[in-house]
Amino acid sequence: MPDLKFEEVSLTYGPPGTTPTVRSITLTARAGTTLGLVGESGSGKSSLARAAVGLTPISHGRITLGDRVIADASARRAKARPCRAIQMVFQDSSGALNPRRTAGQSILEGIAAAGPIPRHLAHAELERLLDLVHLHPQHAERQPRELSGGQRQRVALARAIAAKPEVIVADEVTSALDVSVQSAVLNLLRELQEQTAVTFVFISHNLAAVRYLSDNIAVMRNGEVVDEGPATRLLANSAVPYTQNLVDAVLTVPPLAAP
Ligand SMILES: Nc1ncnc2c1ncn2[C@@H]1O[C@H](COP(=O)(O)OP(=O)(O)OP(=O)(O)O)[C@@H](O)[C@H]1O
Ligand SMILES: [Mg+2]
Repeated sequence: MPDLKFEEVSLTYGPPGTTPTVRSITLTARAGTTLGLVGESGSGKSSLARAAVGLTPISHGRITLGDRVIADASARRAKARPCRAIQMVFQDSSGALNPRRTAGQSILEGIAAAGPIPRHLAHAELERLLDLVHLHPQHAERQPRELSGGQRQRVALARAIAAKPEVIVADEVTSALDVSVQSAVLNLLRELQEQTAVTFVFISHNLAAVRYLSDNIAVMRNGEVVDEGPATRLLANSAVPYTQNLVDAVLTVPPLAAP
């Protein structure tokens, strides 16, 4: 499995010449490991993630997966091409799933994306994936609106895994879920880490979740990476004040006032 590399990546939503939203980011998600991406709201995490799946064009630098170029701002055709090898799962999985397709049909689409496969094998693979994400076979018959948020999120994950990706970018996948379903989805991600060689980029505001899943962490602020390192060291004793504040803020959240 290859590394996912960002080399001096900048991107901007404004006209050329405006300050880029993401500025000169150099970062590696090492093959088979999980890179946690944290930082305040608006710091550019999702923008960087979307660039990695070819949804947002970059204005400088390049993104590579091994020797495959995902995006290259200096290339004549700089437009990024979505790449099956990198799959993204979003916070709001209902937007990512076709509302008129059943969960099973959505996952079968993912299976088909991995390459031609006979019908009976595709259905066997569907059953395997449903089991992997702890869904019942009857969930496959339901449309997204007939599933709970946590079940939808697991369908979206199964669909992403079905495409046999080398990288899964998970952007706030647990934020909309209640605490018990959050931990179910986090445990599921942990199982996937153990059972597959997939590289993960895990974006979350939940530092405990990031600590639980990540080998390395990058901290973003105002479009730049301000700190980076092994998860245990970075969260325990970073020399960077911004990271310290981020960690302290979590530890000092005031308790809810008694009713
Ligand atoms: N499609 C877009 N068009 C214009 N500006 C955008 C667009 N998407 C994001 N932005 C701006 O880019 C900046 C970075 O946004 P981004 O969504 O990458 O942040 P984030 O770190 O993911 O934040 P959050 O933690 O709130 O999800 C923000 O200022 C945002 O307003
Ligand atoms: Mg975001």
